[in-house]
Amino acid sequence: MAIQRTLSIVKPDAVRKNVIGKIYTRFEDAGLKIVAAQMRQLSKAEAEGFYEVHKDRPFFKDLVAFMTSGPVMIQVLEGENAILKNRELMGATDPKKAAPGTIRHDFAESIDANAVHGSDAPETAAREIAYFFPTLAIHSR
Ligand code: TYD
Repeated sequence: MAIQRTLSIVKPDAVRKNVIGKIYTRFEDAGLKIVAAQMRQLSKAEAEGFYEVHKDRPFFKDLVAFMTSGPVMIQVLEGENAILKNRELMGATDPKKAAPGTIRHDFAESIDANAVHGSDAPETAAREIAYFFPTLAIHSR
């Protein structure tokens, strides 16, 4: 399996809970490397652009409000099969349906405040990484 990169976000609920380090440990223990990172308060326009694919969904406005409700920690994860591996670590979108031991099961409260984002496919990973990180800010290792 090839080395991949994926875009991960620790969302405002998890930053507020002070569990950035605990979530990073999940990535590292699974063999994923953090090769770029930035802590940011997203603007409304940035959150809307990031979630553009969901712009016609009923939850879009609340999602943008939530994603701008506090700082987020944004990172690029690199490793074998990184996209799927990160999705497995995250668990199901709805924490109530997420398997025990997954990040969302262990740290999230609800489907709209679900602790983490992770790219779901190679095309979205490429788009999402480029959205937040210029090539020079990524330190492959
Ligand atoms: P989605 O891409 O379906 O899930 P995932 O984050 O697991 O890839 O949805 C993006 C985000 O939109 C999701 O993390 C939380 C929010 N959302 C809701 O608030 N309500 C919903 O019913 C859905 C499907 C998503």
